[in-house]
Amino acid sequence: MRPFRLAVLVSGEGSNLQAILDSVHGREGIDVACVGASRPDARALERAREAGVPTGVFAASDHSDRAVRDEALAEFLIAHDVDLVVLAGFMELLDPAFVRRFDGRMINVHPSLLPAFPGVRAIEQALDYGVRVTGVTVHFVDEGVDTGAIVAQAAIELPYAPDIARVEEMVHAVEHRLLPEAIRLIARGGVRIEPAEPGARRRVNLEREPNGER
Ligand code: GRF
Repeated sequence: MRPFRLAVLVSGEGSNLQAILDSVHGREGIDVACVGASRPDARALERAREAGVPTGVFAASDHSDRAVRDEALAEFLIAHDVDLVVLAGFMELLDPAFVRRFDGRMINVHPSLLPAFPGVRAIEQALDYGVRVTGVTVHFVDEGVDTGAIVAQAAIELPYAPDIARVEEMVHAVEHRLLPEAIRLIARGGVRIEPAEPGARRRVNLEREPNGER
């Protein structure tokens, strides 16, 4: 049977990519087909190469504008015949035409419990606000900033006097579990986006877990 093919888009360290390579790639009929980076110096590219996964670099500075860059990125993804695009620390906005093209086939991992603290520096935003619980969200990507239908969330209780380095560690550990789980769920067809009424918010319908826990 043809595997379920992932593209992972990255900008930096790539610890989430590593979690996907270690726990999803080549298992349960799922393959990482390619990795695209917004920067040539992203450490994530080395991780992809070490795993023998084809890579491409799509730096905004190499193209006349974002739409042209995103067109090249879309061609790369289509050439690799991908079923799902995973933004794993991809730190740039994508052109609306690109987002529409991959509607319902692109997810992002975000380090807060959305809809709280969308956008950049989400962990700092949460700590500055003084929340006692934060977390991680995996959501489909729509044309807004971190506004798409939610696939999975996990909460993290913060220590008293949390320091940013410790909270980042806690958030990463949860991301490395939650993102692979969400990918597996989507790959086995367990996630449907509800057709929204015009003007209504789209939401995700999840099948029951096979073990019946949810
Ligand atoms: C993660 O915290 C992710 O939530 C955010 O960027 C970070 C990327 O980390 N969007 P890494 O590159 O996967 O290590």
